[in-house]
Amino acid sequence: MKFLEKFSPQLVVESPGRINLIGEHTDYNLGYVLPTAIEKKIIFKLQRNGSDTECNIYSTDFDIGFKINLKKIARSSVEWENYILGVLNEISERTDGVKGFDCTLQSNLPQGSGLSSSAALECGLAFGLNELFDLGLTKKDIVQLSQTAEHTYVGTQCGIMDQFASVMSQAGHVILLDCKSLEHSQIPIAFEPYQIVMLNTKVSHNLATSEYNVRKQECEEGVSVIKKKYPEVGSLRDATLQMLEEVKQDMREVVFNRCLFIIAENERVLLMADALKNNDLNQVGALLYEAHEGISKLYEVSCPESDFLVNFSKGFSAVLGARQTGGGFGGCTLNIVHRDSVDEFIEKASIAYKKSFNIALEAFTVSPSAGTMAR
Ligand code: GLA
Repeated sequence: MKFLEKFSPQLVVESPGRINLIGEHTDYNLGYVLPTAIEKKIIFKLQRNGSDTECNIYSTDFDIGFKINLKKIARSSVEWENYILGVLNEISERTDGVKGFDCTLQSNLPQGSGLSSSAALECGLAFGLNELFDLGLTKKDIVQLSQTAEHTYVGTQCGIMDQFASVMSQAGHVILLDCKSLEHSQIPIAFEPYQIVMLNTKVSHNLATSEYNVRKQECEEGVSVIKKKYPEVGSLRDATLQMLEEVKQDMREVVFNRCLFIIAENERVLLMADALKNNDLNQVGALLYEAHEGISKLYEVSCPESDFLVNFSKGFSAVLGARQTGGGFGGCTLNIVHRDSVDEFIEKASIAYKKSFNIALEAFTVSPSAGTMAR
């Protein structure tokens, strides 16, 4: 793109992906989650270009870019552009402070792999524009407008976990977030001598067109049934297993299973937070395996590839626990592995995975890292 000839960035922003230790699909049910940012990130370089309305975005990884007129923001037929356009649209509803800018993006965060490259893109841009044009947005504004952008422009009716983790994380901690009140606390996480190993199935998902939104509707259907008997229940966060059992005959089996998973998963997040505080690593591992069972059998957002890898890890005494992380339908499994066995585990998992699915596994360790920041 032409602007690259005279590009002299005034600001560099790093916006990370995230893992979620436990608490999957609980966020849009207003429950608890336990995510943290990771080292893999998108790097934004930005400059004001002196124009009132013209903006240029360029991805160095894919060597593609596009122009935007701030007076004519509308959804695009090109999927990734909508993350950018959605954020600009949301910011324009709050302030007219954004003027013309140029921006390059470079990423080492795999897309569609359950590590939330979407939130990294949304929050990094919002954070960068806030700094570049001194918009006065708070971190919470950035989180919320990025989530809304994903609803309106991308089409995924996501919860707030990914954006919250991308912006609010602190190195060495996971965030215990209450998605109803947004109250949160940072819990130190040190698995020594264990490490967090991510295995990327390379089965890539697109949440906007997947069953993700269907799951949300099924949960709402469950709430509407429980509510008839218990009007105080506003979301699955407020429901108990006993309430659910009492209305079992009034709901579709599939809806019952979805609700069962969410209510138990919420409970697991709180148990996990306690296990971390007590440094009870065996409990950490057991909760991960239990969660994956629910993800696969009750919530049905896993896939044969993720199930294979989680089962494979069960054969290794050096692995405490494993589960698929993120929105689902593929992406990465998260494994807690003794540091002395990380290489052997990755090697053996790669061979077995290749043999079964003819896919080259991607594997890497991650550590809890800081959220979006200017460099
Ligand atoms: C995606 C969504 C999140 C959350 C997870 C599942 O990453 O963006 O809001 O619902 O899936 O836990």
